[in-house]
Amino acid sequence: MPDKLTIPDLLEKVARGEPLSMITCYDYPTARIIDRAGVDLVLVGDSVAMTVLGHPNTLPATMEIMLLFAEAVARGCERAFVIGDMPYMSYQVSVSEAIRNAGRFMAEAGVDCVKLEGGRAMCDAVRGIVKAGIPVMGHLGLTPQSASAIGGYKVQGRSAQAAINILEDALALQDAGAFAVLLELVPARVTEVITQKLDIPTISIGSGAGASGFCQIFHDVVGMFEAFTPRHAKQYAAIGAELRQAMERFVAEIKDRTYPGPEHSFKIAAEELREFMTYAEKR
Ligand code: KIV
Repeated sequence: MPDKLTIPDLLEKVARGEPLSMITCYDYPTARIIDRAGVDLVLVGDSVAMTVLGHPNTLPATMEIMLLFAEAVARGCERAFVIGDMPYMSYQVSVSEAIRNAGRFMAEAGVDCVKLEGGRAMCDAVRGIVKAGIPVMGHLGLTPQSASAIGGYKVQGRSAQAAINILEDALALQDAGAFAVLLELVPARVTEVITQKLDIPTISIGSGAGASGFCQIFHDVVGMFEAFTPRHAKQYAAIGAELRQAMERFVAEIKDRTYPGPEHSFKIAAEELREFMTYAEKR
């Protein structure tokens, strides 16, 4: 069994200039594939509400939903560092609720850390969770749980003041004890500067090449989310199209009676069959 990655391992990789790889995942079989492929960090994102459950945004993801998916992913990851994404209203109401819910992710789902959205406004929660011994990854830039308040799903930090706010939020998260900060849809130069100013790693999702690590949504990079593919997502496979072809062949073979064939069926011993036939004939 491969050794489980720890935060010191991740920091060591960053210190020697090796970029971290991070991908979202929501189920056990995919987690095993991702883990064996050598991905460093696996995020059980609240994006599950959209990619898997078909909602238009991430808000319907609850703690119970997140724990169910996180538990499956954690079971599938022997090496990768697993992140439980704290869902909407699981950490915003009070610090004690934030600590309790982060603890549930660790104890019930078996993840290695939690991630939450927000900067200075969330630092009390981050401090509380970290004090309880739970590592926290921050999430700045486009924070989908507050899409309505920040004007939708668009690039953040395009004005000097907005970029300053993201830098100050990142520094505050670092001071509060976060071990890394995810930057979503932030201009590439802003990410570069923030990465230089922080002692902790930054992870970019749609935030350019100047971060310490890079994250993508699994369904986007394997071609499984038909509704929309963001510009920053490079497609490495067309799994959705392949699955559709497989299902079309399945339907066609059932229709033309090619499937199931004798090789897909099971036999009964001759004398058992004789006895069964005798019985069936009398019914
Ligand atoms: O929920 C999620 O998948 C995320 C990504 C956008 C990083 O938070």
